[in-house]
Amino acid sequence: MVGTRRLLPMALNSHPSVRVLPGSRCTLPLVVWSLFGFIAMFYFYSTLHRHSDLENQIRLNHLAMMRELEEVEEESFHFPTLRGKRSPRAFKRRGPRKPPSVIDEFLDESSDLRSFFFPDHKTAIDPRQDDDVNKYLYPGRIWLDTEGNPIQAHGGGLLFDERRETFYWYGENKDGLTYHAHQKGAARVDIIGVSCYSSKDLWTWTNEGVVLPGDETNITHDLHKLNVLERPKVLYNDKTDKFVMWMHIDDVNYTKASVGVAVSESPTGPFEYLYSKRPHGFESRDMTVFKDDDGKAYLIYSSEDNSELHISPLTDDYLDVTNEMRRILVGQHREAPALFKYQGTYYMITSGCTGWAPNRALAHAAESIMGPWETMGNPCVGGNKIFRMTTFFSQSTYVVPLPGLPGSFVFMADRWNPSELRDSRYVWLPLRVGGVADEPLEYNFGFPLWSRVSVYWHRRWRLPDGWMNAQT
Ligand code: GAL
Repeated sequence: MVGTRRLLPMALNSHPSVRVLPGSRCTLPLVVWSLFGFIAMFYFYSTLHRHSDLENQIRLNHLAMMRELEEVEEESFHFPTLRGKRSPRAFKRRGPRKPPSVIDEFLDESSDLRSFFFPDHKTAIDPRQDDDVNKYLYPGRIWLDTEGNPIQAHGGGLLFDERRETFYWYGENKDGLTYHAHQKGAARVDIIGVSCYSSKDLWTWTNEGVVLPGDETNITHDLHKLNVLERPKVLYNDKTDKFVMWMHIDDVNYTKASVGVAVSESPTGPFEYLYSKRPHGFESRDMTVFKDDDGKAYLIYSSEDNSELHISPLTDDYLDVTNEMRRILVGQHREAPALFKYQGTYYMITSGCTGWAPNRALAHAAESIMGPWETMGNPCVGGNKIFRMTTFFSQSTYVVPLPGLPGSFVFMADRWNPSELRDSRYVWLPLRVGGVADEPLEYNFGFPLWSRVSVYWHRRWRLPDGWMNAQT
């Protein structure tokens, strides 16, 4: 110690070289440069650290938010004891003696429970007035567009256009009179066409108009108003730079059972209707399309009297199906398919076949999109038993991936109102893939191969802060 103390001043005064420690010699510029280097590195490190701190904070916020969305929210409602007069249609549906089930009450337009499932205009989600910061979704409430009109995009699906950084929501415009074409027929609305809405945040929707209109006069046209156009979905084809729409085309009695194809240069149309066909010669009713990461797209449709689904790759231009087709979920009687992918596994949610009446959803999974597909059970979590057994009184239509939040999706469903189809509501809920599936599967010797798919009930919820930025 004593030696070192003495040595330092001596060295500084006597020679331009600095003796810092016994045995180590360096020049003054070297020291200055080292000091500079050290400060620069310190600055770089702390900036980096600050950035990753910010990222971590955002990630933690997302996780906390997602955890919040995964909280099980109970729902209760009181069965009314005193009932007003029932509508003759409800009486006929149920008969005089049978006690009403909650589903009967739900379907009965004169039921006191109706306002619970179809809250009135006063509670509508209104982007012109609501808190633009929070952007809360309320499943089942009327949802207004930026002009204050209820969104008309039923049985729909979304397309995210990367170039425009915009979401497009396509669906059935059902803003017409609900009627029965004949006594035993399902409630219907004449074809008006396919509506399109655009949004940057999945909450504020601008009406882009009817991008594929029905036909008013030509009775032989597939889109003649007295036919059926349901479940339109749009894909973007990178090779042709075109937007291709696939939809269910039918006649008033649902005997045509075909798919229709339309094409457009722009996501907001106009779409040119090309043709309809029975894919592979088979009936096709409820359907969807799915574009995989490699650009290959697929048509999935309910067939053989809705007893099974078929899946077929589309041609490279997405304008037709290829000859390849596989039967999946054979004998399971599923419809309303909504397909998505996570970490290399394909998932699908389907409904049972009960027309406009709600029923239990099922989740399915597959390692290869062409199958085999396995059924994993009911994805619905929360609410109450009848909520879970009726997909929260709705029917699947599409699942939207949130790319910045791996494993998080938005489940889109329709709460059909068969007595007034134009007033059918949207049930959008958070969907997560994770955890252990709850039904043992056939092909895996009892080991759960797939993750659980969960759709969480919430009366009110919103997407995590900054989810849009996390996308890019
Ligand atoms: C449902 C189908 C709807 C519509 C309805 C008509 O089964 O999912 O898209 O076709 O039947 O009753």
